[in-house]
Amino acid sequence: MSETKTKHQELQRFVDEWAARCKPDRVEWCDGSDAEYDRMLGLLIESGAAIRLNPSKRPNSILVRSDPRDVARVESRTFICSASPEGAGPTNNWEDPLVMRKKLNALYDGCMRGRTMYVIPFCMGPLGSPIAQIGVQLSDSPYVVANMKIMTRMGKPVLDALGDDGRFVKAVHSVGHPLEPGETGPAWPCNPENTYITHFPEKRTILSFGSGYGGNALLGKKCFALRIASAMARDEGWLAEHMLILGVEGPDGKKTYVTAAFPSACGKTNFAMLIPPKEMTGWKVTCVGDDIAWLKPDAEGNLRAINPEAGFFGVAPGTSMETNPNAMISCARDSIFTNVALTDDGDVWWEGMTQEPPKHLIDWTGKDWTPDCGRNAAHPNARFTAPARNCPVIDPEWENPAGVPIRAIIFGGRRMNDVPLVYQAFNWSHGVYIGATMGSEQTAAAEGQVGALRRDPMAMLPFCGYNMGDYFRHWLSMAKRVKEPPRIFHVNWFRKKDGKFMWPGFGQNMRVLRWVVERSRGQAIGVESPLGWIPHYHDIDWRGLDFSEAQWDELMGYSRDRVKKQTLSHEELFLELSEALPKTMIFERELLISRL
Ligand code: GTP
Ligand code: SPV
Ligand code: MN
Repeated sequence: MSETKTKHQELQRFVDEWAARCKPDRVEWCDGSDAEYDRMLGLLIESGAAIRLNPSKRPNSILVRSDPRDVARVESRTFICSASPEGAGPTNNWEDPLVMRKKLNALYDGCMRGRTMYVIPFCMGPLGSPIAQIGVQLSDSPYVVANMKIMTRMGKPVLDALGDDGRFVKAVHSVGHPLEPGETGPAWPCNPENTYITHFPEKRTILSFGSGYGGNALLGKKCFALRIASAMARDEGWLAEHMLILGVEGPDGKKTYVTAAFPSACGKTNFAMLIPPKEMTGWKVTCVGDDIAWLKPDAEGNLRAINPEAGFFGVAPGTSMETNPNAMISCARDSIFTNVALTDDGDVWWEGMTQEPPKHLIDWTGKDWTPDCGRNAAHPNARFTAPARNCPVIDPEWENPAGVPIRAIIFGGRRMNDVPLVYQAFNWSHGVYIGATMGSEQTAAAEGQVGALRRDPMAMLPFCGYNMGDYFRHWLSMAKRVKEPPRIFHVNWFRKKDGKFMWPGFGQNMRVLRWVVERSRGQAIGVESPLGWIPHYHDIDWRGLDFSEAQWDELMGYSRDRVKKQTLSHEELFLELSEALPKTMIFERELLISRL
């Protein structure tokens, strides 16, 4: 049934086994060519799922509307099926691998009838990089093929690199909606009642069923590059993290690379490509990646990072020429827009793109929209898929197979109250404690109550492929694997007063980033405080911004009592992790309480 495209026997068996189970009408091996990409866009347009955008406004781009029930990651349906429940730990859903396999085999049986099964060989990271990893995804969705072409290195060159016995992660995806003979089915097929996003870390296998959206379906991203890769990283002594990577060049021409972990929809894409205020002459930021970082010590003990992705799957709402011009330019062409609104002249629009909304739009559900209609024009988790090469500030080293050396790591959440703008950990284990006890208010990137405060250690709560307690232990152990561990910081751009953000954010975050970079180079002043080292008002570069010392003190202030109370909610997570929790975390908490 499947023509032989590989001498890799394990790969051929994998394809044959799943083709026999899913029973697609045909099997197609993706070559990753532009012609193939165009054909996928054509199929999406023909099926009614997509509209080609006006080529004079948005060249080589389409708008896709998903089923309104399939708009974000579904954490409640995401499972880590490790051999034992302790392997997954209390923060993940667990199911016995054999039980889950049986349940899924029944669902996959005949699930691709009437459809094509695409075989998508992909590489996470630059081909040939010692840090990169290869995967093969099977999928019955042309939307997935097109997105994988932008988001990964995909197609024939990957098969060639895999050879006839290379290691690869197995990923199977179906929208879970077979067709009767002659039936065309809905434009966005999915199966919300039976959605499962499952991971088998010991088998390096991902089985995803029922959703066609983002992290549920583009299996190279969260499923592989975070959940499976985090388990590989634990076994092999590296880190797979929900982090952006950026480069900072100062007036002296020196380049410093920094990673930052913020939870979903909490500002990674924006921070990764920020434009410094023009008054901060000589400071420049370049982007290596906006969502995922793989960090590995090299032979000399330097911690080096690659961006395993090749594109951005960015949050559209809130993105504008004011907040993030580099993202706007990245998706000015060659992009796929999902669940944004359509303008009358065939372009896209979303909340926050312009001050004045257009007078008329077609909203993300395909209905007429006017500014007074009381509905969102774009879904809050509407996204653009854009090639990283389109980014005007993409770092010259972004495809360096050896990665870039990391000097600082920033953790941050979305916190309305109490958490100051910036502080620096005293040392590595204090930094790990700061990351481990991070909290953030829930966003629209996953299903659930938007705004609810939850613990989100290292922004990895939904993405860690094994026991969170072991993950903290692994983080602690990294200090021994590198010559000089990166300095660790915590930031919060989202503090509010009277319902308004207290900090201007976006490009202005460069003022904080400058302090971070200079601290990690041993150049800037920090003052000791109970939370960590902090800058004084006069340690920050204020050229071009009117921000008073009183405002600063308010932004950096916190109540010692409330911080003490917060450590109680840290305790909830710690108790849950119980015996898996490294004792160092308890010691760090005791140190914090005694400093307070
Ligand atoms: P994922 O792709 O889901 O992992 O998200 P992300 O972390 O890349 O988030 P992104 O940069 O797309 O930001 C999400 C939202 O936060 C957008 O609506 C932004 O406008 C908003 N945002 C980003 N940076 C800032 C900031 O510095 N201040 C404020 N107030 N909002 C910000
Ligand atoms: C996130 O939710 O953190 C994302 C989008 O980056 S998704 O690919 O859907 O996971
Ligand atoms: Mn993300």
